[in-house]
Amino acid sequence: MTYNMKFFIDTASLAQIREAHELGVLDGVTTNPSLMAKEGISGEQRVQQHYIDICNTVDGDVSAEVISTDFTGIVTEGERLAALHPNIVVKVPMIKEGVKAIKYFTGKGIKTNCTLVFGAGQALLAAKAGATYVSPFIGRLDDISQDGVQLIAQIRRIYDNYGMSTQILAASIRHPLHIVQCAELGADVATCPLSAITALFNHPLTDSGLEKFLADHKKAQAATEKVK
Ligand code: G3P
Repeated sequence: MTYNMKFFIDTASLAQIREAHELGVLDGVTTNPSLMAKEGISGEQRVQQHYIDICNTVDGDVSAEVISTDFTGIVTEGERLAALHPNIVVKVPMIKEGVKAIKYFTGKGIKTNCTLVFGAGQALLAAKAGATYVSPFIGRLDDISQDGVQLIAQIRRIYDNYGMSTQILAASIRHPLHIVQCAELGADVATCPLSAITALFNHPLTDSGLEKFLADHKKAQAATEKVK
């Protein structure tokens, strides 16, 4: 377990990545084929250039997902992605061929993120294959009335039982409470939409408190001016 919860942003939008980076709390980026499609990024060259652009914007791990679903395809694609930049993490789906490929990448020193994880058994397999990160999708579990946050607690217990070094990357985060709950449970990373990160700033007592401080300062300032 690491003792600094990392914040990743879950987007392929360079504008949002820059905005999150400027907040000074961003540790990395995750993307997936849907997020790349949302930005209109397609074609091997454009996709590769986009990953390089993301890596040049943020100093931290950047997950780039493979499209192939067979071992040879995943390995070929993953090696190509990993060669783009030292911060690239090859994102591989939780399927048999994917776990085999994670084992292969681990042997080659290539970082991996095992994605589409919805059960503790899957997380155990990913860790045994040596995945750098495992991505439990908590929001999508909540969507089908299963407790996504409890999956984080279960994986934490399992990994801690055996000192497994795979980092729990809580994914499919929908709101700031998810981030706080994941932090309470010891998730190593939360990958979030920008809106969930910025929502962490908000508290009505902060707003009203600041308003009062500034008003009081203005009054005191006006009184001083009068005396002069
Ligand atoms: O990047 C994977 C994950 O975070 C997807 O989230 O909101 O599409 O369920 P979502």
